[in-house]
Amino acid sequence: MRIVPLVERPDLAEQVSVWGFDEWGHLNPQETLDQRRARIRGKMNLDRVPIAFVALDDDDGIVGTASLIFDDLEGDPRNPWLASVYVPVERRRRGIASALVGAVEEAARRIGYERLYLFTTSAASLYEALGWRALEERDYRGEHIQVMEKSL
Ligand SMILES: CC(C)(COP(=O)(O)OP(=O)(O)OC[C@H]1O[C@@H](n2cnc3c(N)ncnc32)[C@H](O)[C@@H]1OP(=O)(O)O)[C@@H](O)C(=O)NCCC(=O)NCCS
Repeated sequence: MRIVPLVERPDLAEQVSVWGFDEWGHLNPQETLDQRRARIRGKMNLDRVPIAFVALDDDDGIVGTASLIFDDLEGDPRNPWLASVYVPVERRRRGIASALVGAVEEAARRIGYERLYLFTTSAASLYEALGWRALEERDYRGEHIQVMEKSL
């Protein structure tokens, strides 16, 4: 398995868009799939935020995605954020998400950030195991979220 920026595999942007739309569309109900496709295309960068990454298996098929973005929580002044970590069900529990998180952390460090944020509704323990620290909990768009940070 290896991780590359999505800009190196533009053919995978459609899968990234569909995964995100299915998994998180309810958090952004006004966003259409076409609008999400456009947003994902905007993450096809190498050295500047936002950057989407994809995990590839030995046959170069996509087995996960994660992004480094500037803003995530509406109205929150902190930045940047680790976001949109997704691994398809049949590929889970093999360390793919952990590797994607590491790639996003590394990109943020390389760009010069000293701290990275995320919010999660369900996977705080995954991030804790990767050295992230829990900050506040709050309700956001109908979900209970945990905000976390990692010093880079
Ligand atoms: C959460 C998700 C990205 C994890 O992907 P993964 O590739 O299975 O994660 P890893 O294999 O790197 O997991 C590493 C460790 O994190 C923990 N972990 C994995 N998924 C977890 C979850 N959903 N909740 C809590 N802990 C989890 C486990 O301890 C795991 O180690 P183990 O398998 O040795 O027990 C994946 O389940 C997913 O895409 N879920 C739907 C989208 C989502 O919730 N994304 C996160 C948004 S913040």
